[in-house]
Amino acid sequence: TVINVVDRDGASRSVEWEPGQTLMETLRDNDFEVLASCGGTASCATCHVFLDKSIVDELGERSEDELELLEESEHYDANRSRLSCQVDAREALDGATVTVAPEED
Ligand code: FES
Repeated sequence: TVINVVDRDGASRSVEWEPGQTLMETLRDNDFEVLASCGGTASCATCHVFLDKSIVDELGERSEDELELLEESEHYDANRSRLSCQVDAREALDGATVTVAPEED
């Protein structure tokens, strides 16, 4: 699976998503600025990304923990926000664009 990632300064690059990884791990392994300080347990929100609405819809419901954290974020977009550590459906994202959310102030 190949995804197109847009980082915080607007530069974009295609990266390969290896089987068995979450989206957060893929971003981190490819040196994008994703702090992931909680290690992928949906409790830090530093892995916040934006996806197309159609993909967010296809991925289905966010967990309660994820939604709570996202709603606290000043950059939350109900249509496009996900915690990348909670996304592991590679197929749904084939060819998709993933935008790393701005850092929280
Ligand atoms: Fe902490 Fe995703 S890595 S919420």
